[in-house]
Amino acid sequence: MTTMTASKPKAISSAYETRLFIDNEFVAPVEEVIATVAAGTAADIDKAVKAARRALESGPWATMDAAERGRLLFKLGDLVEKHAEELAQLEALNCGKTIRDSRGDLAGVVNTIRYYAGWADKIEGKTVPVRGPFLSYTLRQPVGVVGQIIPWNFPLLMLAWKWGPALACGNTIVMKPAEQTPLTALRLGELAREAGFPKGVINLVNGMGETAGHALVIHPHVDKIAFTGHVDTAKIIQRNAAETLKRTTFELGGKSPNVIFADCDMDQAVDGAFHAIYFHGGQCCTAGSRLFVEEKIHQEFVERLAAKSRQRKIGNQLDETTELGPMVSQEQMEKILHYCNLGNQQGAKLLTGGVRRGSTGFFVEPTVFDNVRDDMAIAKDEIFGPVVSVLPFKSYDEMIVRANNTFYGLAAAIFTKNLDKAHRYAKDVKAGTVWVNCYHIVDTTTPFGGFKMSGQGRENGEAALEHYTETKTVTIKLS
Ligand code: NAI
Ligand code: MG
Repeated sequence: MTTMTASKPKAISSAYETRLFIDNEFVAPVEEVIATVAAGTAADIDKAVKAARRALESGPWATMDAAERGRLLFKLGDLVEKHAEELAQLEALNCGKTIRDSRGDLAGVVNTIRYYAGWADKIEGKTVPVRGPFLSYTLRQPVGVVGQIIPWNFPLLMLAWKWGPALACGNTIVMKPAEQTPLTALRLGELAREAGFPKGVINLVNGMGETAGHALVIHPHVDKIAFTGHVDTAKIIQRNAAETLKRTTFELGGKSPNVIFADCDMDQAVDGAFHAIYFHGGQCCTAGSRLFVEEKIHQEFVERLAAKSRQRKIGNQLDETTELGPMVSQEQMEKILHYCNLGNQQGAKLLTGGVRRGSTGFFVEPTVFDNVRDDMAIAKDEIFGPVVSVLPFKSYDEMIVRANNTFYGLAAAIFTKNLDKAHRYAKDVKAGTVWVNCYHIVDTTTPFGGFKMSGQGRENGEAALEHYTETKTVTIKLS
């Protein structure tokens, strides 16, 4: 785990005891501390915003050619690639994801940075055929100083999704990483400096959401907030951003339906459902946590899924063979176990898991609940853990109503060999991303975001550029 300390009391900590006092002795905490990280407050945010504004309005970034911005991003991509293994190791420690998943994330980070590097000099305005003797054209200019608040589940990937389009469009950044995962972002800050990004273009302030995050949201000289995290946090941010009418974009969670029809390829569908829920221990905004299975194959399907779940290798995330690492924090583990209890209490049938593994580390067993009803807590709430709710269904029409009966709308999937059914579902389901016979395929080139309360705006692809530019109309009188 990491701990946050305000940076001041260095002198104090050398003169006074800072350990725990138990049984008349000073003792180290039971939990192992891997790093102590400075926590910023409103004053630090203000300093960072001033630096970002200076860089936006004067200095080399303000007048830099778009192609040169692209070149810096390409250099950063190369540096991340060069240090990918180091960063993957650090990321695994940072958030508990397996080393294999961390390597996958790093590939995504490099792809994202390069993709937006390529966009930098291709963000064009239009000439517009206005009435009268005028020439009108549009300029696409940076929004300004952008505040970016990210979560702990994909720390570096979320950073790349936010830095990429922001920098390609010429904005400057103040980012607040999640308090659980402050480490890798700082290393990327160093690499960005090495790549040659001018002073003040990229600023990182670690700290708590309610202090540092909040200060960023209410700061009058921050033009936009881009946020990924919990829907309830987004509501608070939107309310607080209203005072300065900041632009806001949100990527929030989901309760994504994964629908298995009897006409699927059974092996592919079992693997798909498994990956959908257990990727990164289910700590994933797109997790396929509502598993609709057609009644005809329901029994066989859940038996195979449960059997496969029991075999998932749980352990140290740095071990090359580990498939499921610890949950990010004690708080997260407790939230997941709480939902498992609710599942049991409300009458769902526990097929496997539902408990913590061991007594050190925050490990939760892969969990399958069968015969879940739509009104149970485990079917409605985002759990953000390796817990899947199986919901049997009879017909397409019944299923689609149930699948859409949620205030979320981030992702959805279907496993079927019937093309008509697949396209019909892709059109009918209310979600920003739909997968057919696959799951969690997210590429930097395609728009990503939510319908309904799963978000506002889109990240990735060309779509993200819209949210990092202001469109300006220029009209010239022609004589
Ligand atoms: P959170 O939404 O509280 O944290 C996300 C980020 O927002 C962090 O950087 C945090 O410091 C910041 N933040 C928190 N309160 C803030 C405030 N008042 N003003 C400004 N920034 C603030 O999420 P948390 O507590 O880490 O996780 C709780 C649940 O949220 C998870 O169990 C999961 O259901 C969901 N979640 C969804 C994510 C997604 O990818 N959509 C990512 C992480 C969590
Ligand atoms: Mg929170």
